[in-house]
Amino acid sequence: MKKTARYQTLKKALGMSQQEIVDEVKKSNLKGRGGACFPTGMKWSFLAKNDKPKYLICNGDESEPGSFKDREIFEKNPHQFIEGVLISSYALGVKDAYVYIRGEYWRWIEMMEVALADAYKKGYVGKNVFGSDFSVKIHIHRGAGAYICGEESSMMNSLEGKRAYPRVKPPFPAVIGVWGCPTIINNIETLANIPEIIKNGGEWFSKIGAPAHPGTLLFGVSGHVNKPGVYELETGIPLMDVIDKVCGGVKNGKQIKMVIPGGSSMPPLTREECLTMKMDNESLKAIGSAIGTAGVIVMDEDTDLLKVLKRITKFYYHESCGQCTPCREGCGWMLRVLDRIDRGEGRQEDLDLLISVAENIEGNTICALGDAAAWPVKWTIRKFRDEIAKKIPAHAVTLPILNKVHGVRDYKGYSTLTDNNENAKVEAMMGKVQEELHDESVRYSG
Ligand SMILES: Cc1cc2nc3c(=O)[nH]c(=O)nc-3n(C[C@H](O)[C@H](O)[C@H](O)COP(=O)(O)O)c2cc1C
Ligand code: SF4
Repeated sequence: MKKTARYQTLKKALGMSQQEIVDEVKKSNLKGRGGACFPTGMKWSFLAKNDKPKYLICNGDESEPGSFKDREIFEKNPHQFIEGVLISSYALGVKDAYVYIRGEYWRWIEMMEVALADAYKKGYVGKNVFGSDFSVKIHIHRGAGAYICGEESSMMNSLEGKRAYPRVKPPFPAVIGVWGCPTIINNIETLANIPEIIKNGGEWFSKIGAPAHPGTLLFGVSGHVNKPGVYELETGIPLMDVIDKVCGGVKNGKQIKMVIPGGSSMPPLTREECLTMKMDNESLKAIGSAIGTAGVIVMDEDTDLLKVLKRITKFYYHESCGQCTPCREGCGWMLRVLDRIDRGEGRQEDLDLLISVAENIEGNTICALGDAAAWPVKWTIRKFRDEIAKKIPAHAVTLPILNKVHGVRDYKGYSTLTDNNENAKVEAMMGKVQEELHDESVRYSG
């Protein structure tokens, strides 16, 4: 995103009709940079045309582990983003736009406040911009620091001063959004692309990078690379170019073991998949992953994948808002099973159990946090099963014994077993299970 004379494209946009701007954005085939890759022009065209006020919410919550690209815009190029908000607000008939930034980003919030005050002072924001009929206010809102606030519908609840619970969709925000009014929610990077699209035309943009997912992306590369950082690169760039040419290769000349391509929730890639992977959503979708936020996490051959999974799962368990049973209970369940494997107390069936719990969360929840928690577990186990299985002792306790306990209890009560030896074994087992459940609930409570 090169820095050009700012706000001149806004002037151009104000000479266009609102529909012309929406049409250019549609033509550009810009896909949202917030993770879901939804076509921006299409989203804008869903905005309900009624007499209620329209709102634009700019999503700068950026709390997904491995994602740290929006803050670069706040820091290095805030005026391109503000210009994008202004053009979008004009196109959508918005008079109040909200920039929601995660509370922990206090430094970037202050930077944005300075940039916004500057834009107000120069008359780019406020009443009758460039002497036109267009007037708009931009408000900066600090999040209180929960990952779930980044989900669009919980962000609206948060803005309304309510607990940040995701809403059931439909209705979608474009129809019934914040304060019951039509609302468009876009990621910060998505909006920062708008001025260049309006300046150079949608067709120009659609020809950059991968045709089905055009433009550039701010790749936030972290992990075992020599030069981690945020790099603006065209979509469709080979992943190995990102790692080797842009980021100086894997540290200490080691081999790649696993790469998460788009923030911690995206299904991971094996080394073999990395060798031929292109970094655009369509290419990643073809092998069951996705570009997400383009937060690329590189892990070398020495990485303990069980510890990685445990850490990621602990994050989602902690951040689950608790509304849906599969997410609230399933995240904790996956964490407890991963933890017992890590303690050397895993059972042979645990890997299938983890996949089964993950699959029971996936697609069964109000918001996509459930999927975000399930995918890393399911796909890491599917792709790296042997490595994780090595952590389970060969003599490990097996689930059929537990099933037997439950089976007997269901029908007769286990004290009615006639074989005393068997009875004692089962009682010992039940005691162990109770202790374990107690320990685990103490360990994870709070
Ligand atoms: C749990 C969760 C957290 C999210 N966090 C963010 C975030 O921090 N920033 C963001 O832009 N989108 C986030 N999203 C996606 C938003 O719900 C929404 O799709 C996005 O802001 C739309 O913008 P876009 O169309 O420009 O990508 C999150 C989604 C979920 C389920
Ligand atoms: S999936 Fe999880 S975070 Fe999302 S609404 Fe349900 S419980 Fe809350």
